[in-house]
Amino acid sequence: LIFSGGVMLSKKILISAGPTQEPIDPIRFISNRSSGKMGYAMAIAARDAGAKVILVSGPVNIDPPARVETILTESAKEMFAAVHNRLAEIDVFIGVAAVADYCPAKTGTNKLKKSEANISLDLAKTPDILASVSQQKNRPFTVGFAAETENLRDYALGKLKEKNLDMIVANLVGINRGFETDTNSVEVFWGGGEKAI
Ligand code: C5P
Repeated sequence: LIFSGGVMLSKKILISAGPTQEPIDPIRFISNRSSGKMGYAMAIAARDAGAKVILVSGPVNIDPPARVETILTESAKEMFAAVHNRLAEIDVFIGVAAVADYCPAKTGTNKLKKSEANISLDLAKTPDILASVSQQKNRPFTVGFAAETENLRDYALGKLKEKNLDMIVANLVGINRGFETDTNSVEVFWGGGEKAI
């Protein structure tokens, strides 16, 4: 999204960014390929457009942007709590984070030792941060992201409705596309409109 000077003046915006890490034991986790580049770029764009920005970030290899309040989190549960802590004070929420959909049902306190040839891991659903924000009574303007490998439009419009969003930014992802890159192209949808950027 391109904001031009000052259009977000006096707005407070919260952006979630990066992946989450779901611990299996003290030294292992489940995560995904999100680099955080999109969320951090959006935080900088919003800051430069005059907004006060809170960035709730999963583990990434990017320095916290200047003049952006950055809160570092690891798991989906931690990110959920950090977002909800600040909900009352914001005008806009943009969920850019690639939140893990599942986490290990139990986290071992000690390193899991190898024994059998095959083992299985019990997974439990993580809380949906975006959907929980849009359910609030005095909710902020709520924007979601949809990273898909196919049927972009249908999935994005489905998510806009199911998660009760004001706007959704959809992008096609795959190997070398959409994740861990410096360029991207997206399709933005809202009630009654859409725009390719
Ligand atoms: O359902 P899906 O994961 O594809 O939706 C993506 C959108 O939902 C993104 O905006 C992402 O930040 C948000 N999300 C979330 N919490 C989850 C899963 C997704 O905030 N547990």
